[in-house]
Parts: sequence; structure tokens; C-alpha cells
Amino acid sequence: MTKTVYVGMSADIIHPGHINIVNEAAKLGQVTVGLLTDAAIASYKRLPYLHYEQRKIVVENLAGVHNVVIQETLDYRPNLERLKPDIIVHGDDWKTGVQSKTRQQVIETMAQWGGKLVEIPYTKGISSTQLNKTFKELGTTPDRRRNQLRRLLQAKNLVRILEVHSPLVGLIVENLEVKVDGKPRSFDGMWSSSLTDSTVKGKPDIEAVDITSRTNSVNSIFEVTTKPMIFDADTGGKIEHFEFTVRTLERLGVSCVIIEDKTGLKKNSLFGTDVAQTQDDIDDFCAKIKAGKNAQVSDDFMIIARCESLILEKGMKDALSRTKAYLAAGADGIMIHSRKPDGAEIMEYAKHYQDFELKRPLVVVPSSFDKITEDEFEKAGVNIVIYANHMLRAAYPGMVDAAETILKNQRGFEVRDKCMSIKEILNMIPGTK
Ligand code: SPV
Ligand code: MG
Repeated sequence: MTKTVYVGMSADIIHPGHINIVNEAAKLGQVTVGLLTDAAIASYKRLPYLHYEQRKIVVENLAGVHNVVIQETLDYRPNLERLKPDIIVHGDDWKTGVQSKTRQQVIETMAQWGGKLVEIPYTKGISSTQLNKTFKELGTTPDRRRNQLRRLLQAKNLVRILEVHSPLVGLIVENLEVKVDGKPRSFDGMWSSSLTDSTVKGKPDIEAVDITSRTNSVNSIFEVTTKPMIFDADTGGKIEHFEFTVRTLERLGVSCVIIEDKTGLKKNSLFGTDVAQTQDDIDDFCAKIKAGKNAQVSDDFMIIARCESLILEKGMKDALSRTKAYLAAGADGIMIHSRKPDGAEIMEYAKHYQDFELKRPLVVVPSSFDKITEDEFEKAGVNIVIYANHMLRAAYPGMVDAAETILKNQRGFEVRDKCMSIKEILNMIPGTK
């Protein structure tokens, strides 16, 4: 009787290594591919370039594949227990590293019905990681970048965003990866902050840096990155102006704009009630949201409404009723802001938010309440966390320290060890040589 053979795959960029595995598996019996969902892939690495349905079409049409089933977790066990295949085939590269635990689980599970694991020697000289690097170097297009945020929100419970005020910081978001318990962790996308984009230009965060200048910054960041961006458009300005802003951002490939419900001369939220700030009228702000939604061309682009009720100490009830109105007006999500360090009011808001009938992604910016962890936000139902200013706040003290040290010593030697080496800086950017 023909044996049943199971092969788990992401199959984003199909290369000869995959074909080899399928061919070898097909020699052993009838091949079922367990195709990982976007969510399963995003749980440990970047989103695949192709959607699940697109990847499924490719894999279904590979010679040697009998059928494709969905694999919803990185863990093979649920599918194996359901299908009880005679054989599972995998590349032998999982014997060491993060995947070795998964391998052990697979062996134990298969043993329950006498199934066995067949490992195929890893195809040398080609890997998805390598191809990925090439893809990144090739760059992206506005259309491809723009829909990344919606895809991330579908695939992940919590999307992690970092402030970017220059292309160089963009490269940090693009490339930085840390391994925690063997699993890679990185940022999902970028935040163009009005605070830091104004501050690098030596200007106050009062909408004095105009939208042309702000979008020029975005453009230069986009020249060297591929990840999605959320843009802080302050109040959005006049309705008639906001419509143009939406189109400009959308055309550039920005995924989302956030506008706040303030009016008149905008001041940074973290001043709270220490300075005069006026909240917009609910109907007027809803009209701005609607105008923005009508102005956008693509289905991908998102307009998120930011509520300042807690910042302006108008109370939870006001925050809740306003945000319900903003969602009803068509906002694609809500950013709730607070400057209280304990985060209690944010968590309380998040709890109420879960009971909203109309609920879309919820965004927080934990600049003040920075002790709350991503896990805690995720459990509270938050969907996007934005670290809104940390790159600039980290860089400036280092620069002042170096400048002071040079002034005091009248030479550069004393700062040498505090600085990255010339060699590192030359090697950092591809193509410098
Ligand atoms: C920004 O980063 O510019 C923001 C967040 O709008 S906050 O500074 O907290 O207002
Ligand atoms: Mg801002």
C-alpha cells in the first residue's frame, strides 16, 4: 500500500532545496504538504512575501505534491496527530539550533503510530535567508510596502514599531535582529514621529515642520528600507489639506496615518495639561476622518484616530464615547494616549475597548508607561505598540558626551572608545567600498 508522507513548509521563495525535499519525499509515498499560515511564519520570522493562498497555488502545482493542508502552528504535532502519516520528511538542518526541540517532539509523536522521520541532507549553497537578503537589496515598491501593515495585523497579535528619524535609523529597524531563547526577534515597522522629525531639524513639535518636509524625510527613509511605516500627521491640519496628505502618503507607500483630535496650535501630548491644548469637536474630527477615508485610493491604506482625552484629563467616559464615534466615522483603528507612568488608565481603556461592538486595531505609545511589557499589552488586546522616540533619545546624549569630551581634551583620542570605529562605519552600508 502507498505510504503517506508529510512535509511541512513555508514555501515563500521556492528554491532547489525545496524541490529536492519534495522529490525525495515523493520517492517514499504520497506527499501531503503542511503549508504554514502567515501567522505561523510571522510567529518566528518576517512575513512571507506571498500570502498563504498564493503560496498554496505554487505548492499545489509542484510535481510530486499530492495535496496541501493548512499548518496553523510551528508545532507539527496537531497536524501529525490528525493525519497520522507513515513518514515525515524534513531537511537535516533542524538537528541543531532552535528547531531541535520541534524535531524531538516530531519523533516522539510519530512513534505513537510507528511512523518515522526521514531527514534529507540540506542543499548547500542556497537558502531562504540568502535569497531574502537579495530581495531586500532589490528594494520594494509602494504597493508592496503599503499593504504590509494590514498583513502584519492579520498575522500577529501584536505588531512592534520603532521610531525612525533618518534613513540610518531606518536601517536599524530593517536589519536589527536579536535572538532570545534561540528565536529571532526584530521590529515589524517604522514610526515617523512628529516629535523626533521636528527635533532633528531643531524645531518644536507644533506642526512647524510642514508636510512637504516630513514626506521628504519619509522618501529618503524609503529609499533604503522595505518595512512598513506608520506616519504621525499630528492633527492632520485642515480637512482640505488632510485629503492631500492622505494621497501623498499613500502614493509614497506609507501604510497608515495617525491623526489626533486636537485643534489650533498643537503641542506635544507629553506636556499634558501643562500647556494650553484644545481638543477638537467630535463632529469636526469625524468629518476629517471621513474626508481622509474618501480621499484614499487603495484599500490598503489605514487612517487611525488618536484620542487625547486622557492626556487632557477629560476622563475615561469621554475617551470611550469619542473613540466609538471615531470608529463609526470610519477610522481603521484607535490610538489611545496617556502620559501617566503607571499605565493603569491605558489598561483600563483597553479593557473597555474589548467590549466595543465595532472594534479595530488598538495602538499604544508607551513613552511614559514604559514598564508595561509587550506580553501585557498583547493580553490586554492591544494590536500595535509604538516605541515613539527612543532612537533620538538614545543618540543625543552620546553625541553631546562626545562633543564635550573633544572640547575638554582638545583632541579626539579620549572619545575613540566611545565611538564606533571608522572600519565599522565604512562596512556598515553596502556599496561603500
Ligand atoms: C510623536 O512621537 O510625535 C507622538 C507621540 O506624537 S508623543 O510624543 O507621545 O505625543
Ligand atoms: Mg507627534
